[in-house]
Amino acid sequence: MADPNIITLKLSDEASTTNTSAQSRFGSLNPAELAAQDPENEIEAKNTEEASEHTTNVHNVMRATEQISISEIGQERAATEIIVIYLLDRVAVFRDLEGLRARGWNNLDADKAFEQQRQRADAANGSAATRLYQMMERNGRQLDVATSGFHIPRVGTAEEPLNIVDFCMAPGGFLKTALNVNAGARAVAFTLPVEDGGHKILLPLSDNIQVKCLDITMPATDMGVTNILKEHEDASKFLPRMFPADSRPFDPLLSATGKSSLALGLEHLKQGGTMIVLLHKVEAWRTVRLLHQFSKFSTVQLFKPTKAHATRSSFYMVATSIYPLRAEAVKAVEDWKETWRLATFGTEHEYREATSKDDATVHAILEDFGDNLVDWGKKIWKTQSDALAQKSWTK
Ligand SMILES: C[S@@+](CC[C@H](N)C(=O)[O-])C[C@H]1O[C@@H](n2cnc3c(N)ncnc32)[C@H](O)[C@@H]1O
Repeated sequence: MADPNIITLKLSDEASTTNTSAQSRFGSLNPAELAAQDPENEIEAKNTEEASEHTTNVHNVMRATEQISISEIGQERAATEIIVIYLLDRVAVFRDLEGLRARGWNNLDADKAFEQQRQRADAANGSAATRLYQMMERNGRQLDVATSGFHIPRVGTAEEPLNIVDFCMAPGGFLKTALNVNAGARAVAFTLPVEDGGHKILLPLSDNIQVKCLDITMPATDMGVTNILKEHEDASKFLPRMFPADSRPFDPLLSATGKSSLALGLEHLKQGGTMIVLLHKVEAWRTVRLLHQFSKFSTVQLFKPTKAHATRSSFYMVATSIYPLRAEAVKAVEDWKETWRLATFGTEHEYREATSKDDATVHAILEDFGDNLVDWGKKIWKTQSDALAQKSWTK
């Protein structure tokens, strides 16, 4: 009999493991991002944007900032380069990391090491899932020791249980930590159905955990879009409303970077709530922009485990004391929703127009926020740099 705690919400049998056009353009929880969350899948680092961005960074590092044209090499990349140059000038540990990365990317042994690791992971299956679960639980505990991020301050009355929302739950290590730390808490957890490529749930389920198996990148109604043409290629995949409008039930939110889960999470977060979000590359423009946004309406800490994923750029943003009603937070939700709408329904041109940023915007953010960025980033870059320095392929 089906487990009453698990709801598999699939509007169409056509749902597949491949990305929809919207997802791939939008870059929200795309396969690379998903792979990047998987400790068994270190190949990510060499296969994705990170590698190509990095190569561009290294090759262009000597170019003066003002010579970099955004249209010339792509906006995201150009903006990231401006940030990289800014950091290379100021942060010794970031220079070390860039040197190590360059040696790694140019070394064929690194490819071999990643490939072997991937083959081992593919072969391991069940045990790989258990290792991921245990690793996520361990990461969660370490994150809590370092930041107290899972110690969620109670906002409601003492009788009201704490409400957790987890947008990338399976196998469930993080949620386990969150529930352990907050006795009596309830959780709503989303995860991609296993048949669509999601992980198996290993967290033992109980009455206080409600799991919804669905693709969280398709929440049309919650994102304010209700009139979808039947002809739209993803028409059957969009989700009906999940959270009542104007409701703020959630205390903490656990998530990956996807704009849809960020928008839904922040829009329905209680005043004073917490968001723990997996991000990649502190120095990437999209990350800097996000950290800058959060710095305006919350207290931000960054955390990177020293063992798991240490050679990679991933890290967690722990945003506490969030003021979701502050103008900047409301604007961030609107922007994320708009970006999602344009990525999903707009033309390529409209999407580009809306998401384009000129060099001046990047410089203005660095002016306003550069010191914070350096301060927050140092620990993350140091952890990655120390781990890379141990690898034979960076020698
Ligand atoms: C690396 S795992 C996350 C680990 C998890 N947070 C933990 O603590 O155990 C990534 C998870 O994200 C989920 N996921 C990926 N894409 C998703 C999507 N589009 N919608 C909902 N869940 C998704 C997958 O089901 C997978 O279980």
